[in-house]
Amino acid sequence: MTYQLQVNIPSKPALTYPITLGFGVIQQLNDLFDRFPAVKKVVIIADDIVADLYAKTVQAIVASRNLQSQLIIFSAGEAHKTAATKLQLEEEMFKFGCDRHTLCLALGGGVVGDIAGFTAATYMRGINYVQIPTSLLAMIDSSVGGKTAVNTSYGKNIIGAFWQPIAVLMDVEFLKSLPAEHLVNGLFEAIKIFLTLDHEHVNFCASHINEILNLEEQYLLPVINKAVSLKAYVVEVDEHERNLRMILNFGHTVGHALEKISNYKLLHGYGVGYGMLLEAKIAQIMGLLSGEDFNTVATLLASLGINVDYFNTVNVADVIINMRGDKKNANQQIKLVLLTGIGQVKNIDNQVACDVDEAIIERAFNEIKLG
Ligand SMILES: NC(=O)c1ccc[n+]([C@@H]2O[C@H](COP(=O)([O-])OP(=O)(O)OC[C@H]3O[C@@H](n4cnc5c(N)ncnc54)[C@H](O)[C@@H]3O)[C@@H](O)[C@H]2O)c1
Repeated sequence: MTYQLQVNIPSKPALTYPITLGFGVIQQLNDLFDRFPAVKKVVIIADDIVADLYAKTVQAIVASRNLQSQLIIFSAGEAHKTAATKLQLEEEMFKFGCDRHTLCLALGGGVVGDIAGFTAATYMRGINYVQIPTSLLAMIDSSVGGKTAVNTSYGKNIIGAFWQPIAVLMDVEFLKSLPAEHLVNGLFEAIKIFLTLDHEHVNFCASHINEILNLEEQYLLPVINKAVSLKAYVVEVDEHERNLRMILNFGHTVGHALEKISNYKLLHGYGVGYGMLLEAKIAQIMGLLSGEDFNTVATLLASLGINVDYFNTVNVADVIINMRGDKKNANQQIKLVLLTGIGQVKNIDNQVACDVDEAIIERAFNEIKLG
């Protein structure tokens, strides 16, 4: 089965783009070349792990169209999502003679998508690119919405651009080689969007977690499809994260702090997993979320390995200090997305980031540690 979705940015109709999801959909690159006949050169950007696995597949499709292509590879990992790597990619692109009609294919996980997307955003003031996500996290989250970025020593993703792809091809076949830990890592982002917007799919995930992680088509595809369509809806309402798009930050304020404290050893999705647990406890303490709903959140997260013992390994003061630097904050006042039920958040006229006292964060942290 193949799912077709569309992202429409109402203020910029020309930016409407299709998302294709299913097993084997990489072959639909051909349709894309039909739609963009001016493309004569293609650059494929991938990290070394994904390049070894899948570059040949993509190169073969490009070659069958008699297009010139160049594969540009950089070392895998978050540590390489930097301005220095971006410069290397640009130099390779100049050497290959890329111009404004060159199409860039971002083949890989979220790291590749973010850096290749940012490179496409700035190369000759912007060229077209296609997201070809190969990790579950990249399919569910980072390949849709047009946020592109690199990291700096001052923080993650703080230099970047909003630059929408012309298409996203999610070939679920690629997930067969993804390590199990990275499958779970991606699933946290689906759980995040369902906890904030879709009660029914929280129940679906809770009932079918093993089938989803075993990549069973009838369970996995509806989860990716629903998560992506919810993300597309949020991006359509608020492309530049002025209000509703902040809902996607549920679990992230705490999660980013935990990732930073771990020196990025904690995977992003797991950071969000622990973050969702603590932020749900904060909502409970603030009288917004019932104890029963908190337990639903905690049980689902525990089934994916989120264990309260983790909070014994970090210091609450460090967590709070790191939360103060979050992008949603104003004047160092910490703001969080707060659950009011399963599938709903506190939302006043699409404003979803709410002020939270640091004393409540500390209390929630201590209560979670007690189990
Ligand atoms: N732009 C956004 O909106 C957005 C949203 C969420 C996360 N992100 C970013 O996404 C990044 C995390 O993404 P990620 O978890 O995909 O990390 P990643 O790109 O580092 O991929 C994780 C690992 O899996 C490997 N891999 C990828 N696909 C594979 C496959 N099919 N088979 C085997 N190995 C494979 C990669 O080489 C890497 O080693 C972070 O940099 C984060 O900031 C961006």
